[in-house]
Amino acid sequence: MRSAAWFGAKGRSGMIYRSWMRNQGYGPEVFDGRAVIGIATSASELAPCNAHLHRVADAVKRGVWQAGGFPLEFPTMATGETLMRPTAMLYRNLMAMEVEELIRANPLDGVVLLSGCDKTTPAMLMGAASADLPAIMVTGGPMLNGKYRGRDVGSGTAVWRFEEDLKAGRMTQEECFFAEGCMARSNGHCMTMGTASTMACLAEALGMQLPGSATWPAVDARRFSTAEQAGRRIVELVAEDLRPSRVLTRQAFENAIRTNAAIGGSTNAIVHLLALAGRVDVELDLDDFDRLAARVPTLVNLMPSGSFLMEDFCYAGGLPVVLRQLADAGLLHGEQVTVTGKAIAEVVARAECWNREVITTFDEPFQPPGTGTAVLRGNLCPRGAVLKQSAASPELLVHGGRALVFDSVEDYHAVCDDPDLDVDADTVLVIRGAGPKGYPGMPEVSNVPLPAKLLAAGVRDMVRICDGRMSGTGYGTVVLHVAPESALGGPLALVHTGDWIELDVPSRRLTLEVDDAELRRREARLRPTPPVYTSGYTWLYTEHVLQADEGADFDFLRGSRGHEVPRESH
Ligand code: FES
Ligand code: MG
Repeated sequence: MRSAAWFGAKGRSGMIYRSWMRNQGYGPEVFDGRAVIGIATSASELAPCNAHLHRVADAVKRGVWQAGGFPLEFPTMATGETLMRPTAMLYRNLMAMEVEELIRANPLDGVVLLSGCDKTTPAMLMGAASADLPAIMVTGGPMLNGKYRGRDVGSGTAVWRFEEDLKAGRMTQEECFFAEGCMARSNGHCMTMGTASTMACLAEALGMQLPGSATWPAVDARRFSTAEQAGRRIVELVAEDLRPSRVLTRQAFENAIRTNAAIGGSTNAIVHLLALAGRVDVELDLDDFDRLAARVPTLVNLMPSGSFLMEDFCYAGGLPVVLRQLADAGLLHGEQVTVTGKAIAEVVARAECWNREVITTFDEPFQPPGTGTAVLRGNLCPRGAVLKQSAASPELLVHGGRALVFDSVEDYHAVCDDPDLDVDADTVLVIRGAGPKGYPGMPEVSNVPLPAKLLAAGVRDMVRICDGRMSGTGYGTVVLHVAPESALGGPLALVHTGDWIELDVPSRRLTLEVDDAELRRREARLRPTPPVYTSGYTWLYTEHVLQADEGADFDFLRGSRGHEVPRESH
């Protein structure tokens, strides 16, 4: 056992390692060479989606003791999506770095990763991948379905609708206050197919969490028995020395990409999977997402693309049903090993569907193949951009219009309610300065609300183009993740109000109809944006963050560094 270098040590160091641990009341038996299991808990009252994770940790601990291991819970940073400014994404890499270092620095043989909110799942996976000790993920589970006036309301998705209804006068402020409490009525993360639910499902599709684990509601007793099972299993995983580097193969990523298409998952998954692949040296690029998903229909009918929520998905059979259907269609690498120790196809072979409205079939899918997230290319996005077709308006997928350009999202918000704003339904809104370096942190601001005058006229969608991200719960015809970003002098920085822009999603093109010579002239006049931060973490971030097409990880964090620590501490 790796931990024996600490707890099995003779002399002064060993005495220090053991003695101080005994102040917690452990007898000497826990140092007998059993597997020491870290439980990395991102619980925080500042990250409401993760606030209940101590309870999940208790369940994991039971399992670890049952299997003869020694569980030790430790806190990690929690990147809560709702409260953190300027964006939780600014801190994903910091959290990943913390997780990696804590795993390596401590006497652990294996680790159980507890996450919930959007960025916490990829951050945990990235850190664990770079430390490469046996690891199982247990996500905290979605909230119960929101219920407002007898209807299901999805977290996130309903916020955008309520805001539009309020702006258009269909809802009062009092009704909005009341609805807030109806939307979030139990522990757990967003129960739409937003980024948290997506990443929980993809952790399962990657083979990093136990089957069925992604969908149990946060308050369902079976969430806790699954966590207990994960506690037992991690002890075996240590004995088998089954590490993330064996689970997170190119095949596993291909499975995750196809799963993301089948569940109608978040566009943020693209950024997170690219970053995770970079940690395990798996070659993955933006075009893989379009190519691999091309034959995959959207099977799961969940908001924001559809009408149901995670509770319904759970009761319909959950992700194992989707994985089984992908396997039956020849679209899953079934032999890929998972943390169960078994091949993924074997794990899901007996999964049954209990509700065909929620999980549809390949024969009658919720949405046909090729309607998932499209990867766009063109002179406006030489390194790519993405658009979630299932969340867009079909009639806008081929659209030409005049650009109305804003250098920042704040510039847009300052005028979007102006009744004299020179805009119509055909205008293409260009919002720049929201990339990884430019904002900084690549926030979820791209699906800006429509101008008030258009909302009042009944317009529900228009084309928007941005170098930022969109919440996984968001919708609209929004071109996201434009790379390179405007702050790096990407072509997005060269667009002028009035330029003609052509969006052609079926042929995957995004074109600024301005000739090259003129673009070169504009480029020559471009002044570099001076850095806003010259010290602190945000400075480090802007110095080292990669572009969206590389997952917006730090350049110096790519790759795996393993778990060896060459030197003693005393
Ligand atoms: Fe945490 Fe949506 S805000 S999952
Ligand atoms: Mg989000």
